[in-house]
Amino acid sequence: MSDPGKAGPPESTNDSHGRIAIVLGTRPEIVKLAPVIRALPEPPIVIHTGQHYDSNMAGAFFDAFGLDEPAYRLGIGGIGRGQQLGSAVSRLDDLFEEIRPSAVVAQGDTNSTMAAAIAANARSTPMIHVESGLRSHDRRMPEEHNRVVADHLSDLCLAPTDTSARNLTSEGIPLDRIEITGNTVVDAVQHLLPEPSERAPILEKYGVASGSFVLSTFHRPENVDDVERLRTIIAELAELELPVVLPVHPRTRAIAANGAVTLNQGEVRPLDPLGYVEFLALLAECALVVADSGGLQEEVSVLKRPMVVVRNSTERPEVLGTFCSLVGVGRDISSTGRKWLAGEPFSLEELAGVPSPFGDGDSGRRCADAINRLMVISAHFDPATKS
Ligand code: UD1
Repeated sequence: MSDPGKAGPPESTNDSHGRIAIVLGTRPEIVKLAPVIRALPEPPIVIHTGQHYDSNMAGAFFDAFGLDEPAYRLGIGGIGRGQQLGSAVSRLDDLFEEIRPSAVVAQGDTNSTMAAAIAANARSTPMIHVESGLRSHDRRMPEEHNRVVADHLSDLCLAPTDTSARNLTSEGIPLDRIEITGNTVVDAVQHLLPEPSERAPILEKYGVASGSFVLSTFHRPENVDDVERLRTIIAELAELELPVVLPVHPRTRAIAANGAVTLNQGEVRPLDPLGYVEFLALLAECALVVADSGGLQEEVSVLKRPMVVVRNSTERPEVLGTFCSLVGVGRDISSTGRKWLAGEPFSLEELAGVPSPFGDGDSGRRCADAINRLMVISAHFDPATKS
């Protein structure tokens, strides 16, 4: 058997037998699984696949949530999608043979999520999918395929909203495999958002004033893989006439460097990716968000900020028409952004009164309760035989 990449405790594999395994691989998965890890009655075995491997995209996030380092690191970052999936399934299969988890929990729509679902299925281990049922209906996105596979292989689909639960039932997933929990990102934001007095030094550090800057981040292939499109996005950001704080994802940084794209145009201020606490402080105080991130579409609804979503589609229709405007890839960014800055369609004061569709901040507990119920059932029945 290949070395599954043990990185620390548990020292004895016997300690691991029968515990829940949490598989994650990227920055947003740490953010959204932290509330579940904290709510589970027994500490799970955390396995990091290494899909995001820089310290500012992984280690710093464990620290921010006060979580222990992962018990295992598989180190499968920096390779293509097919190889990443194959390698992760094979490494997880070895590891599951060694640690014999009672269940596998994964979140969202990354390659790590899909690999976890396939590896759990191959070992007939109950699989739980957190943030289940999101659909962009856009088959060009690898994430859409990752979500569909993970949902259909899962014994328990934890859907954040009614909309995502309906997506699951419309694909034939029976109601007894679905639970509506809210999105754990609300818990994460509530847990780590600094108080207003703690935000002031962070704004000062980045040289911006409350309500007078834009926060932006881009990494999706359709925006950054084409150098001309990336250039257009930066030029559009520079037209917003406010400072634009731009933490640059490593993928975007590499493409900009290779394609000689100047990121610091006009008032655009490129930075390294930020830790979650600093990022939340800026998010809570900015005038506008312009980004292609999935999780940010949820976080803006908690912190009541407007967002220009630079994507052809979204798997989060719940916030369209309130917090988020969808613009085509590389188009209409500055014109839509300027409208929001002028208070259209809603001012910040108006958004302050709009509730988040993603829950009340108690989703981690709901997920943990549902997982515990499945554990009780699967101790008596084989979940694979459920309808
Ligand atoms: C992607 C998926 C999302 C899924 C998630 C986990 C899409 C478009 N995105 O996340 O559906 O839930 O994987 O499976 O399908 N942040 C920082 N510092 C920064 C920049 C961002 O802390 O400098 C934080 C944001 O607050 C947010 C998270 O990182 O919590 C977003 O990470 P990102 O890499 O943009 O991934 P997503 O697109 O959200």
